[in-house]
Amino acid sequence: MPKRYTVTSALPYANGPLHIGHIAGAYLPADIFVRYLRLRGEDVVYVCGSDEYGAAITIKAKKEGTTPKAIIDKYHNIMKSAFERFGIAFDIYHRTSEQIHTETSQAIFLRLHEKGEFEVLESKQYFDEVATQFLADRYIMGTCPKCGNENAYGDQCEKCGSSLSPTDLINPRSTLSGSKPVLKKTKHWYLPMNKYEDWLKEWIVKEKQNTWKTNVYGQCKSWIEGGLQARSMTRDLDWGIPVPLEGAEGKVLYVWLDAPIGYISATREWAKQNGKNWEDYWKSPDTELYHFVGKDNIVFHCIIFPIILKAHGAFILPTNVPANEFLNLEGDKLSTSRNWAVWLHEYLDEFPDKQDVLRYVLGSILPETKDSEFTWKDYQARNNNELVAIFGNFVNRPNNLIFKYNNGIVPPLGELTEYDKSVLAELITYPDKIGDLIKNFRFRDALAEVMNVARLGNKYLADTEPWKIKDNPERVGTIMNISLQIIGNLSILSKPFLPRTAEKLEKMLSLDGKASWDEAKKADLVKVGTTITKIELLFEKIEDDVIEKQIQKLTINNKQLPINNNQETTISNNIKQSQTTNNQQQPTNNQSVVPQKELINYDDFSKLDIRIATILAAEKVAKADKLLKLTLDTGIDTRIVVSGIAEHFKPEEIIGKQITLLANLAPRVIRGIESKGMILTALDGNGKLRFLHPSEAVMNGATVS
Ligand code: 2FM
Ligand code: ZN
Repeated sequence: MPKRYTVTSALPYANGPLHIGHIAGAYLPADIFVRYLRLRGEDVVYVCGSDEYGAAITIKAKKEGTTPKAIIDKYHNIMKSAFERFGIAFDIYHRTSEQIHTETSQAIFLRLHEKGEFEVLESKQYFDEVATQFLADRYIMGTCPKCGNENAYGDQCEKCGSSLSPTDLINPRSTLSGSKPVLKKTKHWYLPMNKYEDWLKEWIVKEKQNTWKTNVYGQCKSWIEGGLQARSMTRDLDWGIPVPLEGAEGKVLYVWLDAPIGYISATREWAKQNGKNWEDYWKSPDTELYHFVGKDNIVFHCIIFPIILKAHGAFILPTNVPANEFLNLEGDKLSTSRNWAVWLHEYLDEFPDKQDVLRYVLGSILPETKDSEFTWKDYQARNNNELVAIFGNFVNRPNNLIFKYNNGIVPPLGELTEYDKSVLAELITYPDKIGDLIKNFRFRDALAEVMNVARLGNKYLADTEPWKIKDNPERVGTIMNISLQIIGNLSILSKPFLPRTAEKLEKMLSLDGKASWDEAKKADLVKVGTTITKIELLFEKIEDDVIEKQIQKLTINNKQLPINNNQETTISNNIKQSQTTNNQQQPTNNQSVVPQKELINYDDFSKLDIRIATILAAEKVAKADKLLKLTLDTGIDTRIVVSGIAEHFKPEEIIGKQITLLANLAPRVIRGIESKGMILTALDGNGKLRFLHPSEAVMNGATVS
């Protein structure tokens, strides 16, 4: 009787494309796991989809000057196609904007409400007076009280993984306007997580100690033992699933309530399309549930979602949450805002036949127990020294020899030597060895063992040297047969990791691709008399210039400016990103460009204190047509700057805008007003002034360098 499994990978936010960090975190490991389970003949559903609500989407829409709907449609399609091309074998890639998801989420919310699982509380929440909006989650940033990270979000610190509330943040600031928020009353539905502490101590701290990964277990234990607080499950936002209750108009479900429910709605949709019963996969105690996520998602999948499932009462709980740590790139943190990433869709465009190379490299360096590192040189070395030199080389040799010695027909086994027997005995140990490693989420070690099968084959050929045997066709036939069996077994064992390569091996050996995992133990998988097909090249050497081009691409994207690991959103990074990735049409230039001024050295430049500030108020200066009096939040103070921009900007239109300020210009009194600093502007070819805005909202006081 096959066992039943529900496997999920974190629903990526539909606010940007996928990069290799995402893949190494939550998708490739799950895909390997699922492909393995399917080969074992288990009953598996593997679901994922785009996470389309929450501030991640609305903030992106604001940045791109478009609607949330346009953003989710764009990125959902980019991600879906990249997953398909890369070979992530979801049973369904769903969307949280689908009606079935709204229904599922609202039904679960209502059931919790009816069971009295929520506490409805009126409390003071941060509110942005400039943007006239309550600030939760990613709308608010500040210093993490646990680790001191200055860029923690209102719901989570991505540095230490702590789950936070906006009121926990030290020095909170609005990510919409950069202004300091004020507290204002509002009503929300809270999940009293503290009520579940004892249960979590039992279910995780006691029961999961030996089966959950140390990194996951350790984090959960310290959160549980540190005490849990009630967490609001609703938000005052206009983008999300409406709270299905009277008196909750204008409120939506918290995105971290609806997103994991997305796994359930995806399963429902898949079941509907495939004549299955979704409840088998979510309610049957015979089903094992696995959530694959990155480390920043641990708290949501190990604590909050299980509390929701438990409070609901009808659902199973995760058997395991094998979260990965982070992948770094060329010595630095992957960063979307700095464009410091290898984007999956771009990789697939540039290397359309090298999916398995990336799967192999990422599979070999998965951040399973600690952060790990991708470098292009390592990618090249693993391709050339391992895939080409070991795997490809082994498969090619019998593939060529069989044509030379036996017209491409699989010869029978003759008498076996002790060495032949020992090789076959070793071969049959691999399926269990690799399977056990996969079941224990040790995918790197499992992949290394797959490579050892190829090594075994290479050694066997090197030791037996069939090409030197002149007068013993039976012996050559035996060696050929055994080598082809090793390739046959490799076609099964490599399948979870390198599916396209495995398919090529099956084609070469005329296997129908239906063999189960345990058939890799067979010494006669490839039948005598089968006609072998000449194999196309499995892997090819990657030359230095290809790798140099990729390294250069990264450097150009990042513009060789100093990288500040702690400040994701420094202005210099944003400016460099827009310089290099922004192909928008330039405005026409009717004037000649002013020639460059004489050179200065870095010391001259470093004396300038240039930073980002938000205009809090603006008014005309009496009897001065050209002057505006601006009140600025500079992050260090609130100050007045008098600026000669009145002919270009209406005061009411610039309030709330972020601008660039030369902050340490000596104060001057202009028309009786002390002006402290100078707004930086650009004069376009038509004589119009423009502000210099950061390409995305940053904190006031962010320095420009
Ligand atoms: O961190 C993220 O990208 C979230 N969108 C993951 C959600 S996982 C699940 F709960 F849906
Ligand atoms: Zn922190």
